[in-house]
Amino acid sequence: MTLRIAVAGKGGVGKTTCSALLLRALVRSGVRPLLAVDADPNMNLHLLLSLPLPRGVGSLREEQRTRVGGAVPLTDRIISEVHRRLSEGDVVDLVAMGRGEGPGCYCYVNNLLREALDRIEGGYRAVVVDNEAGMEHLSRRSGRRIDHLVLVGDPSPRGLEAVAALRELATELALPVGKTWLLLNRPYGAPGRGTPDALGIPLLAALPHDPRLPSWENEGRSFLDLPPGESPAADAVADALRASLLGPEG
Ligand SMILES: Nc1ncnc2c1ncn2[C@@H]1O[C@H](COP(=O)(O)OP(=O)(O)O)[C@@H](O)[C@H]1O
Ligand SMILES: [Mg+2]
Repeated sequence: MTLRIAVAGKGGVGKTTCSALLLRALVRSGVRPLLAVDADPNMNLHLLLSLPLPRGVGSLREEQRTRVGGAVPLTDRIISEVHRRLSEGDVVDLVAMGRGEGPGCYCYVNNLLREALDRIEGGYRAVVVDNEAGMEHLSRRSGRRIDHLVLVGDPSPRGLEAVAALRELATELALPVGKTWLLLNRPYGAPGRGTPDALGIPLLAALPHDPRLPSWENEGRSFLDLPPGESPAADAVADALRASLLGPEG
């Protein structure tokens, strides 16, 4: 069974960083191969994984809708096109959704794309989805279960309000979520004055402000290569993964 983890939060709160740190933690726990899904139209997860910028697959909705005929059935064409657009790494492959949301809902092709992604995901031990704040991508998925929805928030009253709004959105969208977690993060190093307990969401981890993260990013090094003991935030995510997200067999 593929373990599915989705990361969401408002812009700049550390979603992409936390997605990369979760992937690193999975690799370190021996969970591989892994698929990273960049579902933010502002694609940048590839930078933290030192992978080439993948071509987004979202545009297939529009491109394939307008193609009729051809010997290869549309489903197969979409699957092979998604494969072609993967950025492949040693242990982590990356697929990006990109832009490409047409003005209407081309439901038929959209369903095929969803099916193609589901099938491809099935070949990996775990999938980590770095979402945009609206969680559009998650709402477009088929009934596939999200084992863990990780809501990243900074520990200010406003940051926690944003997390509460996201949890409401997840309920409205009827996302099939196994467990929802709060991941407190301090990208700006501001002291937290919010009361996260009031949210009633179990705390996955509280990451410290960690200047090692932006500097590692600026050096262009893969977060997968961050050694233990280098970054308190990375180590906290690894501990949280083992303690809360991996099953007893993980
Ligand atoms: N705990 C932290 N300590 C220091 N800087 C952080 C921390 N978390 C994230 N950052 C930095 O904050 C910036 C935004 O993070 P990012 O993961 O891109 O946010 P998002 O994906 O939510 O927009 C990046 O430069 C990142 O290095
Ligand atoms: Mg991001």
